[in-house]
Amino acid sequence: MTTKIEIKKLDNEGRGIGYLDNKIVFVNNALPNEIVEAEIIKNKKKYSEAITKEVIEKSPLRVIPKCPYYDKCGGCNLMHIGIDSQEDYKLEKSKDILYKYANLDKEIKLIKSNKDLYYRNKITFKVENYKYGFYNKDTHNLCSVENCLLANNEINSFLHNHDFLTVKDGTITVRVNYLNELLIDIKSDSKVTFNNVPNNIKGIVLNDKTIYGENYFYDMIGDMKFKISYNSFFQINNYIANEIFKLLNVYLSGENLLDLYCGVGTLGLSLKNNFNKIVGIEKIENAILNAKDNAKSNGVTNAKFFAGDTAKILSELNEKFDTVIVDPPRSGLNKETIDLILDINPKKICYVSCDQLTLSRDLKVLQDKYYISKINVLDMFPNTYHVESFVILESK
Ligand SMILES: C[S@@+](CC[C@H](N)C(=O)[O-])C[C@H]1O[C@@H](n2cnc3c(N)ncnc32)[C@H](O)[C@@H]1O
Repeated sequence: MTTKIEIKKLDNEGRGIGYLDNKIVFVNNALPNEIVEAEIIKNKKKYSEAITKEVIEKSPLRVIPKCPYYDKCGGCNLMHIGIDSQEDYKLEKSKDILYKYANLDKEIKLIKSNKDLYYRNKITFKVENYKYGFYNKDTHNLCSVENCLLANNEINSFLHNHDFLTVKDGTITVRVNYLNELLIDIKSDSKVTFNNVPNNIKGIVLNDKTIYGENYFYDMIGDMKFKISYNSFFQINNYIANEIFKLLNVYLSGENLLDLYCGVGTLGLSLKNNFNKIVGIEKIENAILNAKDNAKSNGVTNAKFFAGDTAKILSELNEKFDTVIVDPPRSGLNKETIDLILDINPKKICYVSCDQLTLSRDLKVLQDKYYISKINVLDMFPNTYHVESFVILESK
């Protein structure tokens, strides 16, 4: 059964907000000032969730999504809005969230991506009965795809022609680098075979074992080259990653830099000319091995890297730092880590975040001792509601 809903605004996940009998309804694929015919798919005590079945009164912001799987896939959630309006929305929601949860009322600038399609250097496909695709967020059914408009073209070439590899079920993560080489990471309980592997496949890893080629390759951000193992984190939009490097180089310089959640060492190493000493901490062992190699290959002799949990290593590390970068996962920083950073008492903290809710929560605490001198948001993930944030905090 469907029902008419008038949409008032967008929530922070890009869903339309409307009301039915004074209860809030989050409506997928609906825009402010639209009236939509929607089907309720979840009815909770405090809110409902719905999906748009028909747009009765259309917003001028609405465009026809370029992706043929848009309604079924759920990977993108803003493709029904033009890219300029997406950016306006991202800027507005950033201001709202930072104001509401961190009491911040500051000018925020948005840095655009150079591409709104084909920008992802990494995609994870679900595989069911030899079919590749994505799970629909609402139904958890596989939406089988032959092309993904967010993925780099070489990943799409793999999607069109993966006859050399047989995987029945599981997940396949495909990464591409600046040379159009691919690195394939498979998690599967079914039998995996390969034959006549194309030249641009650098490696295939199955359940953490290398079954073909190498378990790493190299990619570039700006003019820096990085070794990346199959299970190391690497920013998915190289252009935006380079924009972050540029911001770091404008705002950070000093004696000793601590790069927390450092991955393969990218952010800290991009500041090699601005600091006399760089220390990185990261929990994935392979990423730390990569970071050590990346320091060497980029001519950095003053860097040290430690593998392990941030809080654990920090509590054992008895060194002084004037600058700290944190780039944690979506969950943000825990209290123990924040306390340990406050004990270090750096002059500047740079917080890079892919989740503005946990970022705001942490900024609220850090603002006791630090003031926020700069906020940028970067459109790392066009056509989705996600945004990257870059914040500089300075000691009061
Ligand atoms: C958003 S990524 C940032 C990586 C890196 N700064 C970059 O730009 O490529 C977050 C990183 O934190 C690491 N990580 C997650 N939890 C951690 C923890 N408790 N201690 C140390 N590292 C952690 C992840 O493995 C991942 O590499």
